[in-house]
Amino acid sequence: MKHSLSFLLLISLLFSACGAPPPATVIPTKLPVVATETSVPVMDTETSQSVEKQIEELLARMTLEEKIGQMTQVEKNSIKPGDITKYYIGSILSGGGGYPTAENTAQAWYAMVEGFQKEALATRLQIPILYGVDAVHGHGNLRNATIFPHNIGLGAANNPELVEKIGRATAEEMLATGIPWNFAPVVAVVQDVRWGRTYEGYGEETELVSSLGTAYLKGLQSLTAEDNPVPGQSIFVLGTPKHFIGDGATIWGSSRTENYQLDQGNMQVPEEFLRQILLPPYQSAVESGAMNIMASFSSWKGTKMHAQQYLLNEVLKDEFGFNGFIVSDWQAMDQIYPDDYYASIVTSVNAGVDMNMVPYDYVTFIETMKSAVNNGDIPESRVDEAVRRILRVKFALGLFERPMPDTKYQGTIRSREHLELARQAVRESLVLLKNENDALPLSKDMPVIFVAGVGAHEIGVQSGGWTLEWQGKVGNDNEGTTILSGIRSAAGSDTRVEYSREGDFSEFKDSTGNPLIADAGFVVIAEKPYAEGVGDQADLSLSQAETKLITAMREQSQTVIVILLSGRPRVITEQLPLAEAWVAAWLPGTEGAGIADVLFGDFPFTGKLSFSWPRSNEQLPINIYNASDKTGCEAPLFPFGYGLEYGHPSPEIEPC
Ligand code: BGC
Ligand code: BGC
Repeated sequence: MKHSLSFLLLISLLFSACGAPPPATVIPTKLPVVATETSVPVMDTETSQSVEKQIEELLARMTLEEKIGQMTQVEKNSIKPGDITKYYIGSILSGGGGYPTAENTAQAWYAMVEGFQKEALATRLQIPILYGVDAVHGHGNLRNATIFPHNIGLGAANNPELVEKIGRATAEEMLATGIPWNFAPVVAVVQDVRWGRTYEGYGEETELVSSLGTAYLKGLQSLTAEDNPVPGQSIFVLGTPKHFIGDGATIWGSSRTENYQLDQGNMQVPEEFLRQILLPPYQSAVESGAMNIMASFSSWKGTKMHAQQYLLNEVLKDEFGFNGFIVSDWQAMDQIYPDDYYASIVTSVNAGVDMNMVPYDYVTFIETMKSAVNNGDIPESRVDEAVRRILRVKFALGLFERPMPDTKYQGTIRSREHLELARQAVRESLVLLKNENDALPLSKDMPVIFVAGVGAHEIGVQSGGWTLEWQGKVGNDNEGTTILSGIRSAAGSDTRVEYSREGDFSEFKDSTGNPLIADAGFVVIAEKPYAEGVGDQADLSLSQAETKLITAMREQSQTVIVILLSGRPRVITEQLPLAEAWVAAWLPGTEGAGIADVLFGDFPFTGKLSFSWPRSNEQLPINIYNASDKTGCEAPLFPFGYGLEYGHPSPEIEPC
């Protein structure tokens, strides 16, 4: 915050320099960009001044309609043919499940985006569109992409270098489909694990979130010489720290959306908490070059974030010196005054939101904007400011020079390098919660292993939400490896591995005809995939059926090991004694075999909880900030930072 003055000064200098009247000469539509000397562009003062000059020149030539078009982001299934050109649309997005209708391949994606881009380039000023997508754990909407563990697993791994590489790999697979903008990372400091988006966050502690969020952003945005950047380009793929601010810190039951409880709800914390706990990841992202931020659906002290002019304009833009643009969330401006669209748009734009993720009825948005400007309710200077910010990002991405990315990135999809990276991330994300009698690691010559549970052998379940569809998709539509296939390939050739979804192994007999008893039995307990408020859940306990799966295995195996696949900690206090070992594996993505790498001891357990693990539902919400002084039965079952390692005796877990 000590930068605030110099940033303010810089911004005001910039703005006063920009106030000059438009030049009389006609500017070529293909704008020349001043080349830097090095092949890897650094935004030196000269380059940035030249970019600012080009922005001003372009802006000076734009009509109100063209400016409003830049502020409009339309969902790809809603845009009518010809309308990008007709309305000068500035941005298109794919929401969850927004793959091309023809087929879900990189080539089809690329052709789809290129088609939209051609329409944008057919406008008078040929301003390219900026296409955005949620590639929140790899390019999840693309079939057969490399799907990395959801952020909760990366929080447990807590390895910024790894996260940066994942950002880079994700960016490459996105460019392969023609897309240079990722609505990620979520940098919420999640305070309540009942939230359906818990897994999209790295953890409950500010520093961990800042460090991993920033690492991911660097991975997405940093250019290398091999990328052959165009002159003036400073960003590889645009990242979006989201959702500004307070998602994950709302109050249970405060949401007004459908059956949601926490998601899109109200946060009621003092400014001090907001500044100390929730804001630092954004400040750190801005300092590391963030040029887009998404506003949150949620509210602070009863006012929707999309209307929070103090936080958007004064804190983010002025105080932090954020010079990129703020995008709304999906139809979120409309929620400010549910019965008054005009007032919602006026309030939100004036509060600082620069681009509206409409996503459906763009004509009404455009007409509303026009009347608001003509009525003087939104000053045209405010429209100029928004467009200036949007154009700045388009220049930073080099879109004017190269509106579609090089197709060479298509070779990176599920490349050996990306798969190995994902598998490493899976290994590092695992947290060993209990390991009685050194049940793990398993010996590779164990005679009989049983594996139970649907999550043991379904890529869709282990990937979670935001995979192929918004709410995720059960089944095996994506390539990858599962926990079962990993165990099968890791175990020795003499080991018998049997699988039963329902955990009934009675059909298997030993050589004397008696029911076969396993030496080790794995029970995989998995949540059904969910996303956003659909996943808000008051009861995190294991169900009766899940408990039965464990007790049934107890009767069929010498040793029982439970693997939890979940987007958040579950309440397991009662069931903990039923198995020798417990592993939290989160939502590992497509490379599930990374789990077997650790189970058989080829790699160590290194993951540590990035969330406090609750002892009971009644305890919720519990986290390091509200329960640091709690002890005994009041304390979490496992504290933040907990995670066992091989070779260290397991501590006694105190019964309550
Ligand atoms: C989510 C955002 C997402 C957007 C586009 C919204 O519902 O809250 O995180 O980026 O949809 O899919
Ligand atoms: C979209 C998501 C979006 C959600 C918001 C879905 O239909 O696919 O991207 O976040 O709607 O409700």
